[in-house]
Amino acid sequence: MEFSYTKRLDCPVMAETLFVSQTADRAAAYSEIAPQIAALINSERDVTANLANIAAAIKQTFGFFWVGFYIAKGGELVVGPFQGPIACSRIAFGKGVCGTAFSTGETQIVPDVDKFPGHIACASESRSEIVVPIFSSRDEVWGVLDVDSDRLDDFDETDAVGLRSIVRILEKKLSEEPV
Ligand code: SME
Repeated sequence: MEFSYTKRLDCPVMAETLFVSQTADRAAAYSEIAPQIAALINSERDVTANLANIAAAIKQTFGFFWVGFYIAKGGELVVGPFQGPIACSRIAFGKGVCGTAFSTGETQIVPDVDKFPGHIACASESRSEIVVPIFSSRDEVWGVLDVDSDRLDDFDETDAVGLRSIVRILEKKLSEEPV
């Protein structure tokens, strides 16, 4: 597999600049961006701002089709900050890949979305998907990080580990400054 990583993500108002070396190694890219995401969100206390920048950092680093968050609110999942085409606003607990990750508390890797019973197709271009649950400090699932690819079988354990490491950074921040 070949990947093309964005070299620099600059913003004049951010104290941090994300840098990812040009490499075909996805695991290395996760290792490079994780501490930079930690530095980025540590200097910001607004959860929406942090979710938005995390989604943007993942999207721009890997070029995935859709990267974003669904957050548990009022007994269902509601879409949060994301990068990519418009998406379903609400997903019931237990439904689709996101609802399954939420209800089981386990990362879901779906190599072919057409073969996942109950998959919710927000966009026909989405071919494979990974969803990582996000836990609150009370050990309840707070929401999920959803990443879609327009390529079949684009995610494996490397992504599960890499995205989990990013979600852990977010969980730590949420536990320090609960919303
Ligand atoms: N496919 C997801 C729905 C969300 S979109 O992919 C952005 C699911 O089955 O839960």
